[in-house]
Amino acid sequence: MLFVHVLSAITLVGSVAAIPFRVLPPQRKRDVNPALVPSFGWQSGVNPDGTGNCDGAVDGTNGKPILIPCSCPPNSTFFLTNLNKNVAAGFVTTNPTVKVSFPTDDSTASQLARLNAAAVTLQNLEGPGVGCPISSTTFSAQGKAISAGTSTNGNSSAATPTAASETPAGFGVSPSTSAMSAAVPTSITSNDSSASPTDEQIATLAPPLGWQAGINPDGTGNCDGAVDGTNGKPILIPCQCPPDQTNYIANLTANVRAGHVILNPTVQLTFPTDNSTASQSARLNAAAVTLQNLNGAGKGCPIVSTTFSAQQKAINAENTS
Ligand SMILES: *[C@@H]1O[C@H](CO)[C@@H](O)[C@H](O)[C@H]1NC(C)=O
Ligand SMILES: *[C@@H]1O[C@H](CO)[C@@H](O)[C@H](O)[C@H]1NC(C)=O
Ligand SMILES: *[C@@H]1O[C@H](CO)[C@@H](O)[C@H](O)[C@H]1NC(C)=O
Ligand SMILES: *[C@@H]1O[C@H](CO)[C@@H](O)[C@H](O)[C@H]1NC(C)=O
Ligand SMILES: *[C@@H]1O[C@H](CO)[C@@H](O)[C@H](O)[C@H]1NC(C)=O
Repeated sequence: MLFVHVLSAITLVGSVAAIPFRVLPPQRKRDVNPALVPSFGWQSGVNPDGTGNCDGAVDGTNGKPILIPCSCPPNSTFFLTNLNKNVAAGFVTTNPTVKVSFPTDDSTASQLARLNAAAVTLQNLEGPGVGCPISSTTFSAQGKAISAGTSTNGNSSAATPTAASETPAGFGVSPSTSAMSAAVPTSITSNDSSASPTDEQIATLAPPLGWQAGINPDGTGNCDGAVDGTNGKPILIPCQCPPDQTNYIANLTANVRAGHVILNPTVQLTFPTDNSTASQSARLNAAAVTLQNLNGAGKGCPIVSTTFSAQQKAINAENTS
C-alpha cells in the first residue's frame, strides 16, 4: 500500500510549485465523474470473526482471505467525498506530500492514475497512513488488468473476477512506473554511485522491516502485523511475513540490480544512497515493492507486516518541518 504514495510523492514532487496565482475568484473544481471511480469490488462486513476483523477481497499466501477491519472498505458517500476533496486539492488532504490526479481519458496511464487516486484516498481516509488497506478492495487485480491491457475503462472490477485471489496487499503498479516500463531500459547504465550502490550499501541502507514473522499466531495461518487497524487491534498478516532479513536483502539487492522488480517487471525502482527526503522515500519504495512481490507478481507480504508506513510518515514529517 505504501509504495503507491511514495511513488506519487517522488514522481510528482516537481509539480507543487506550479499552482497558478488567481486574480479572479477561484472556480470551484467540479466533482469527479462517479462512473470513472474504480469500484471497490468488495464490501465491508464479510465473515466477521467477532474481534473486529472481516475477510478482505484478496487471499494471502496461506490461501485464506487477508483479514481487514470490518469497517473497510468505507461507504461510497464517505469515500467519494474524500476523493473529491483530494482531487480538487491535487493531493491527499490528510497526507499532503501524496499527490493525486484524476485524468478522465481511457489511456492506461490515466486509468492507473485514477486507481492510484482511489487507493491513496482509501489508505489515508482518517489521517496520514490511517485508512483502509488495499486488500479491502480488488484494486490490486484492477491495476494488473489495466497494466496487462485487459481493461479498457475505469470499471475493471467486473473484468477481473478471479484475479483478486492472486494478489495479497498493494497493487504492484503505479501510473508512472507502468507507463514508463515500455520505454525505460531495464538495467541501470550510468556509473555514478547513486545509480549503482554496492551490496554493502544496499544492506546498510535498506529500510528496517521493523517487525518479524510469527507473532501471536491465531492457528489459521494469520499472525499479528506491525500496524493496528481502525479497530485498535493489530492487522493480521500471513504468519510467514515479513521475510527474514537475509531473504529480504537478497530480494531487494536483485531488484535494485535489475532496476525493476524481477518478478513483476513493470514495477521500476531505484535505490539512491544519499539521505535526501526523496532518496529515503525511493529506498522505502524499493523495499515496499520488493516485499509485495516477493514470491511473484502481486504475491508477497503486505506493507503492514513492516513499519514502512510509520517510516514514511517520519520521512514526510522531516520534509515538512
Ligand atoms: C459513512 O461512513 C462515515 C465514516 O465512517 C460515517 O460517518 C457515515 O455515517 C457513513 N454513512 C452512511 C450512510 O453509512
Ligand atoms: C462497468 O461494468 C459493468 C459490467 O460489465 C457495465 O455494465 C458498465 O456499463 C460498466 N461501466 C462503465 C462506466 O464502463
Ligand atoms: C564505475 O566508477 C568507479 C569509480 O568511479 C570505477 O572504479 C569503476 O570501474 C566504474 N565501473 C564501470 C563498470 O565503469
Ligand atoms: C526472496 O525471498 C523469498 C521468500 O523469503 C525466498 O524464497 C527467495 O529465495 C528470495 N529470493 C532471492 C533472489 O533471494
Ligand atoms: C544523513 O546521513 C548521515 C550519515 O549517516 C547523518 O550523519 C546525517 O544526520 C543524515 N542526515 C539526515 C538529514 O538524515
